[in-house]
Amino acid sequence: DNVDLEKCFEVISNVVTEAGRLIARNNETRQEFVCKSGDIDLVTQTDKDVEKLLMDVVRRHFPDHKFIGEEESSTGAGVNKLTDAPTWIIDPVDGTMNFVHAFPHSCISVGLKVNKVTEIGMVYNPILEQLFTARRGHGAFYNGRRIHVSGQQELGKALVTSEFGTTRDEAKMEVVNENFAKMAKQVHGLRVLGSAALNMCMVALGAADANYEFGIHAGMCVPGDLIVREAGGVVIDPAGGEFDIMSRRVLAAASPKLAQDISKVLTQFHPQPRDD
Ligand code: IPD
Repeated sequence: DNVDLEKCFEVISNVVTEAGRLIARNNETRQEFVCKSGDIDLVTQTDKDVEKLLMDVVRRHFPDHKFIGEEESSTGAGVNKLTDAPTWIIDPVDGTMNFVHAFPHSCISVGLKVNKVTEIGMVYNPILEQLFTARRGHGAFYNGRRIHVSGQQELGKALVTSEFGTTRDEAKMEVVNENFAKMAKQVHGLRVLGSAALNMCMVALGAADANYEFGIHAGMCVPGDLIVREAGGVVIDPAGGEFDIMSRRVLAAASPKLAQDISKVLTQFHPQPRDD
């Protein structure tokens, strides 16, 4: 299997820039939305338009490539079994709640896996013009400049991000709140940006030291995973084991020690259903 990763990177860069204009333009006004899995899990026409544009262009260039799409999968139309085939994993608008309110932290999040290995990760916030990219073995970049994690080891000095998530499920909310309370007592600072992919990119940038979340989907963490690792960070399962992209659980950190220390503090949660 000869996958031209150079060409894949170029094609996706171009279409992500183009699709970004749809988000940037529409972010000037508040957006209509419909509820997806619940009343705080939202989808807009822009989510659908961006997803369609991305998939149409990729299909035109690479007819045999597969997709795992955030909006498609949530309507049950997507095939979420990851195979060895080149597979694009997409969240067209990560941070839809932000987008609906014109809070300027929304992004397109796209990853490419070949033989189940992530080769390309791209996260683009077109509103603030923040482009994060990575290719396996080539480092991570922010607007073309090489980036590195902070290397922070100490929990007490760490700025940590997480999310309230997109469900008001009581059992989930309880764990989320418990973890915020525990973390707030031990870390330097706690932040909620409203986009799982951008939270991870802040770790890659060295602007945050760690990010954890229960309830994310593959589209928003596969690109971030590669970007964080290429920036020298670690991505693991929040319980301390290996990261599983379909588990809807992630913990990214600027050092292995920080990752392990956070995993020991966290009350664990296993979102259902999984992504596969
Ligand atoms: C959501 C955002 C949110 C996170 C959720 C995601 P979406 O993305 O990233 O911050 O807490 O897990 O679902 O739904 O806007 O793509």
